[in-house]
Amino acid sequence: MAPKSKIRRTLGEALRDGAARLKTSSSPLLDARILLRAATQIDDAELIARSDAPLSDPDELDFDRLVARRARGEPVAYILGEKEFWSLPFKITPDVLIPRDDSECLIESILARRPRDEALTMLDLGAGSGCLICALMSEFQKGYGVGIDQSESAIKIARMNAETLGLCNRSAFAVGNWLAPVGGAFDIIIANPPYIADTERSALPVDVLDFEPERALFAGVDGMDDYRAILAAFAATPGLIHGDGLLVFEAGERQVGRLTQMVKETFQAANVAVIADLKGRQCGIAADFRLIKKRD
Ligand SMILES: C[S@@+](CC[C@H](N)C(=O)[O-])C[C@H]1O[C@@H](n2cnc3c(N)ncnc32)[C@H](O)[C@@H]1O
Repeated sequence: MAPKSKIRRTLGEALRDGAARLKTSSSPLLDARILLRAATQIDDAELIARSDAPLSDPDELDFDRLVARRARGEPVAYILGEKEFWSLPFKITPDVLIPRDDSECLIESILARRPRDEALTMLDLGAGSGCLICALMSEFQKGYGVGIDQSESAIKIARMNAETLGLCNRSAFAVGNWLAPVGGAFDIIIANPPYIADTERSALPVDVLDFEPERALFAGVDGMDDYRAILAAFAATPGLIHGDGLLVFEAGERQVGRLTQMVKETFQAANVAVIADLKGRQCGIAADFRLIKKRD
């Protein structure tokens, strides 16, 4: 008897089945589409145009493996090993936090305060993948960027990303505890330190809690430990920000009020403002040492 030929799933059926297996994701269809694209190397337009075309055996196997990883909670960015930030591609591994779209509000707030043609020196505290400092260097094309992180693996990734983006001749990266490795003064200092309170741990989704680095997330009982450490280091090492410099911190809505107060106490000469994103959500603070007051 001749062997029965296997009935292959179409691309459209695979997409629907994949989404159905990802019910615990907040975006099952999107995740399934991204994973199907990765397994088949077919772009969105072709996926739609050829939704009745059969999936090849190797592509089906790949897709099922990717969906199984996502179904266990692994974030899409770690599965693919990349994430876009500020329209730039970043290599991502589980050693670094996945860049969040929300953090783009920090870049926007800096661009609202400084002209792009200035040759600024920029420092990123807790650089992770290097997304913030690379985004800044891509905008301030005469600028020079330094990234610091306590994680050696993260610094390797940040360096690799700067190299891939053609920014390595304008950047340096170092491993260390916040300001400890830093010498000289900077025009812009950006920091997205950990700010999740230990008490919020149980509210985090599995994607974050089980997969992202602990040291990128948690900052003590009130989520303020790393802000306190950074501000104490600034107080102990005056002169790290130029007289007309700018310091920008990302913060959670729960931390913004206390952080504003702490920054005002540490930098009495600075004009301290809360940064809000396009939806009006508070996402950080900016301490501007230039006197002209700008609105977010
Ligand atoms: C919230 S993540 C931000 C990563 C990246 N800047 C971003 O926005 O995606 C915080 C980063 O701070 C780093 N970090 C934590 N404690 C640190 C310390 N004491 N000194 C330097 N970096 C630290 C973590 O390793 C992590 O990469």
